[in-house]
Amino acid sequence: MKHLLTTKDLSRDEAELILDLTGQMAEAVSGREVPKLPTLRGRTVVNLFYEDSTRTRTSFETAAKRLSADVVNFSAKTSSVNKGESLKDTALTLQAMGPEAVVIRHPASGAPQRLTQWVDGAVLNAGDGTHAHPTQALLDAYTMRRRLGGIEGRTVAIVGDILHSRVARSNIWLLSKLGARVRLVGPPTLLPTDIDAWPVEVSYDLDASLRDADAVMMLRVQRERMNDAFFPTANEYARLYGLDERRLALMPEHAVVMHPGPMNRGMEIAARVADSPRATITEQVANGVWVRMAVLYLLLTNGETR
Ligand code: CP
Repeated sequence: MKHLLTTKDLSRDEAELILDLTGQMAEAVSGREVPKLPTLRGRTVVNLFYEDSTRTRTSFETAAKRLSADVVNFSAKTSSVNKGESLKDTALTLQAMGPEAVVIRHPASGAPQRLTQWVDGAVLNAGDGTHAHPTQALLDAYTMRRRLGGIEGRTVAIVGDILHSRVARSNIWLLSKLGARVRLVGPPTLLPTDIDAWPVEVSYDLDASLRDADAVMMLRVQRERMNDAFFPTANEYARLYGLDERRLALMPEHAVVMHPGPMNRGMEIAARVADSPRATITEQVANGVWVRMAVLYLLLTNGETR
């Protein structure tokens, strides 16, 4: 594995290797007085972010630092991108500094794939357009594994704005590969037209979909990607597709509530549900650091410790 661009490209064995390694990273670092490993000492990781991020950028930075790598943070908003510099010229400039890995978030689907042509190091996709967000799906899978004891045979409902969601796409491919039954739930206007080609079942009825779900993944309504009216009002959306306490009570007792963040509290998820012990939201963020340590380690060392 040279790059991490999508979960669709991962084999089941590769995905399971990353999840196993994630657990080992958590174990290796937790309880240490200084929570760091020397594994990537002397290596440089560039974070190249063309879109806003709180969780993913800080998580990749923390992960790289916990592996003792040097980290360069590049934000398009404060760079020569504002003077019109292209992605290619930006990439060639960064390449001249010789990073071993570039983590990229970009609004255009396919930008990380293009980047692989211009840099020598590993490229890690931190979210590209509506296409893919592989480390988010891996941290979601790791969280489910820990909370539910496994993924094979579990039913996962992914709810809401599927159309604009790279998180949904990456989870669909990963979870189905790992043996889960994936159910998409949302208004017809927010479901893609090519859904028939995906390994999923589809429902428009959230109440019915929750009764046998082991996990429900609520998606943020991505207003910034909407240039059309996809539903009448926010209140109407919350009434039909928001997860509130009444709906939470329909789920099996062991079932967990997930959200990749950032959340629209009161819209796709009620504040009391987001803050309930059934929700794994902050646990997902914590697990994200272990997952990103695992993928940086695998891509930069080929699995061999130095
Ligand atoms: N889940 C996620 O990608 O969050 P950020 O946009 O804050 O990175």
